[in-house]
Amino acid sequence: MNLVIFGPPGAGKGTQSKFIVKKYNLFQLSTGELLRKEIINKTILGSEISSAMNRGSLVSDKIASDLIEKFLSKNEYKNRFIFDGYPRNIIQAENLNKLLDKYDQKINLVLKLSVSLDVIKKRIIGRSVCTICGKIYNEFFNPAPINTNCCASRFLQKRSDDTLDISISRYETYEKNIKPVIDFYEETKLLKVVNGEMPISEITNEISALIDSFKGWLCTITQYKYAVNLNS
Ligand code: AP5
Repeated sequence: MNLVIFGPPGAGKGTQSKFIVKKYNLFQLSTGELLRKEIINKTILGSEISSAMNRGSLVSDKIASDLIEKFLSKNEYKNRFIFDGYPRNIIQAENLNKLLDKYDQKINLVLKLSVSLDVIKKRIIGRSVCTICGKIYNEFFNPAPINTNCCASRFLQKRSDDTLDISISRYETYEKNIKPVIDFYEETKLLKVVNGEMPISEITNEISALIDSFKGWLCTITQYKYAVNLNS
């Protein structure tokens, strides 16, 4: 199955994706993480995109699309995607459908995490990420454990776009672009809205229940089709 998870900056997309990936053996395709890798590796693309990211704007649709197509075209990830942070506007939503068609796949569930701007500010200011294992922490809500080797404070890093000013710009960019995406997925009846202000584990449980109910439904349909085939 393929999932889309979207929501404002700091909504918890990355946090939840990491749990869901483990539980359901999916592959997290985070355009934000892919773009940051380009900047860290000092690629030509990296120098092109860093100013847009540090302004809180979107990078071009073409760049984001090329990045995701690299993974969509690989058979090993087929029907195992969780799209984290793509699509972000209606052009990207339509493009994702085209690419999925091209590689004979489709989206099964779309999750929108809702979080208010006040909560987002604290989440972003307090965030740090372990450079060793990639775990995401928050000094206010979800501090890194003490006495660990991997996530010790010397390995925790802040993102350069996690300032108050840039987080507000990122939120405004999200608000400006997202309404047509919501309408697009509402029409397909795939959209489920999850309250992103609940504790992390409660959100994971709610998302798991949505995935399980979809899988249960898929299983019933498959069994029904199988029974019809046997009887015909
Ligand atoms: P990206 O890296 O995707 O950033 P974002 O969308 O702003 O989202 P974040 O990563 O900030 O937040 P998140 O929702 O993953 O939250 P997290 O789980 O970390 O993109 C960065 C930039 O790249 C964009 O601004 C744009 O420039 C560019 N870009 C990316 N994709 C693009 C695209 N498709 N097209 C064009 N440009 C693109 O959680 C945040 C914090 O809150 C953490 O500290 C966490 O511990 C804490 N937390 C999480 N959940 C909870 C909870 N329930 N309760 C308490 N604390 C919580």
